[in-house]
Amino acid sequence: MAAIGAPAHNHYRSNQPSDHADNGFYGQDILSVRQFSREKLSYIFGVAGEMETLVRRFGSADLLSGKVLANLFYEPSTRTASSFMAAMVRLGGRVIPINEVHYSSVSKGESLPDTIRTLECYTDIIVLRHPEMGAAQIAADYARKPIINAGDGVGEHPTQALLDLYTITRELGKLDGLKVAMVGDLKYGRTVHSLTRLLSLYSTDFYFVSPDILRLPADMVAEVRARGHRAIEVEDVHEVIGEADVLYVTRVQKERFNDLAVYESVKNHYVVDPELMTAAKEKMVVMHPLPRVGEISYGVDRDPREAYFRQMENGMFIRMALLAAVLGKA
Ligand code: ASP
Ligand code: CP
Repeated sequence: MAAIGAPAHNHYRSNQPSDHADNGFYGQDILSVRQFSREKLSYIFGVAGEMETLVRRFGSADLLSGKVLANLFYEPSTRTASSFMAAMVRLGGRVIPINEVHYSSVSKGESLPDTIRTLECYTDIIVLRHPEMGAAQIAADYARKPIINAGDGVGEHPTQALLDLYTITRELGKLDGLKVAMVGDLKYGRTVHSLTRLLSLYSTDFYFVSPDILRLPADMVAEVRARGHRAIEVEDVHEVIGEADVLYVTRVQKERFNDLAVYESVKNHYVVDPELMTAAKEKMVVMHPLPRVGEISYGVDRDPREAYFRQMENGMFIRMALLAAVLGKA
């Protein structure tokens, strides 16, 4: 039972074909961004670039033909679920989508471990989104097949962070020396947690912009500072808008609040609109993992610094690269 960060067991040790490149991903779980080094990131980004070329030229390939993916989602999703499905299908594989667990035996009380044990009988890899932090690790502890964490509660969303970082490097041409402002729900936003950790591998200055009750967990701020990064916490986005190379905006995570009155008190705290954008640098990008529920006005969609739609598209290429790498075909 491998802990996050420790080398995971190789699920394909004994009985799999040997046509995989030794890329360090073959047969591995993808549970946390802590598994990634700069070298591993640039490998995945290189493969993602090839996947983009492949899709633009041919639409699809048969790299993963014969492989089957289970898409197991205990929480709602549009992008992550559909881009994993599209990624698998474009590589010639097939998908069992369990996007609505209420129609599965989960509604009869079946546990996560038993659900995982069931799906791995039929598939080669399982993508899991779950409301509880640590659920992906639990699934991996029980599974013989690779598990990909598609969001575990307020924990991590590693594949989102990969596509976020890929988008930054595509948009700005570098990852070192950037000033990144994370805006919104930094407490519950799992994409912020994963992206902050990944950006810590580069020489990043951080601005953490949130209402007081939604600040980034103190241990994460300490972790970033201990790695030698400048990390400034502010409440007013105007204080940092003129400095940021990346404005990473997030939704207040309504589903994590016990008291909806508290959610109501912070939900409209930030709105990035064309007026705010007049104070931003000419060369910078506005990103958002999406869905947005008012944090970025539609007026910003016409701004050339908007990157959230390209970010979303990049997700499919990154997930194609990951699936190919984990299934030994990259
Ligand atoms: N879609 C992202 C997530 O699942 C961000 C969000 O929902 O606000 O974490
Ligand atoms: N960014 C993201 O995870 O979107 P979904 O929740 O729609 O999958």
